[in-house]
Amino acid sequence: MKALVLAGGTGSRLRPFSHSMPKQLMPIANKPVLVHVMEDLRSLGVREAGVVVGDRGGEIAAALGDGAALGLRLTYIRQDVPRGLADCIAVSRDFLGADDFVMYLGDNVLTEGVKDIADEFRAHRPAAQLVVHPVPDPRDFGVAETDATGRVLRLVEKPRHPRSDRAVIGVYFFTPAIHEAVAAIEPSARGELEVTDAIQWLVARGHDVRARLYRGFWKDTGKVEDVLHCNRRLLDRLKPSVVGEVDGTSELLGAVVVEEGARIVRSRITGPAVIGAGSTVEDSHIGPYTAIGRDCVLGAAGVEDSIILDGARVHRVSGVHGSVVGRDATVSAEAHTGGSRLVVGDHSSVVVAA
Ligand code: G1P
Repeated sequence: MKALVLAGGTGSRLRPFSHSMPKQLMPIANKPVLVHVMEDLRSLGVREAGVVVGDRGGEIAAALGDGAALGLRLTYIRQDVPRGLADCIAVSRDFLGADDFVMYLGDNVLTEGVKDIADEFRAHRPAAQLVVHPVPDPRDFGVAETDATGRVLRLVEKPRHPRSDRAVIGVYFFTPAIHEAVAAIEPSARGELEVTDAIQWLVARGHDVRARLYRGFWKDTGKVEDVLHCNRRLLDRLKPSVVGEVDGTSELLGAVVVEEGARIVRSRITGPAVIGAGSTVEDSHIGPYTAIGRDCVLGAAGVEDSIILDGARVHRVSGVHGSVVGRDATVSAEAHTGGSRLVVGDHSSVVVAA
């Protein structure tokens, strides 16, 4: 089975970070979302993946390379204009050939993986197998209506009156039967070739389409609060390891990772927390649920439930929580500035204590 990873979305809901990086490279527990996706695919036994990219394809290819480090062979497939999920299948037609494949949205995180669902697909090979998950409001999703055995009777995109709470989430399994369906459908009202329409085309022609329930944690990392939520859930699985230096007056509590070349001085780190390679933490209290990227400097800082991206600096500011600090950004408190001085980039949001 091959994989098709969709990494072309623009990420407008993840501004300001998506101004300077594709949303699929947003680090969660110190690894880009796409790397979590690739690791999940590897655990399904996939060895070969196509990555559908748009304008930011260069940055994605620079981060993942040929995939060898992840145990995968990656092929980058360019989609000029985002024309919908079914169009991603169409532009990947040559890469997919006559193989079965799993299509995975590159900003989705499923912490428990879908190994059992993949095994079932391999055993029975229905034309399509969807992964569904109960959500409080399914009106933003594709919604599958099934019989008692999980056979899909009808699939509706963003229904106004959903007949079930089971949303179709970002992992789909297909046999090559999907290609005929993709070729047959027309763009939807929003001008996109909808994968939902292609799957419904299969259902309407009597093909076997199945939906399988995923019970673990799932999020699409479209918004900052979702990224922080995923960060907490992935850090919960952190295995402690200390490679960098920790001085005698510092304390590490719980699951803490101190990467190579990181230095912890006169500080307390409460896990789960990761301190990235080459970062320095002095006179600070970090964690829990905090991921600090590479080459950051934190001095006299208090940070919890946050993500600090590569090269950022936090000085003399405590009580930072629920925050994401971008690459090479600085947050500091200084005496004698006559008030707060903010240089805040486009689409940023700053909330200070009242
Ligand atoms: C797409 C699919 C929808 C699915 C969702 C999962 O929606 O069309 O059926 O439930 O992904 O994230 P979109 O995010 O393109 O609106």
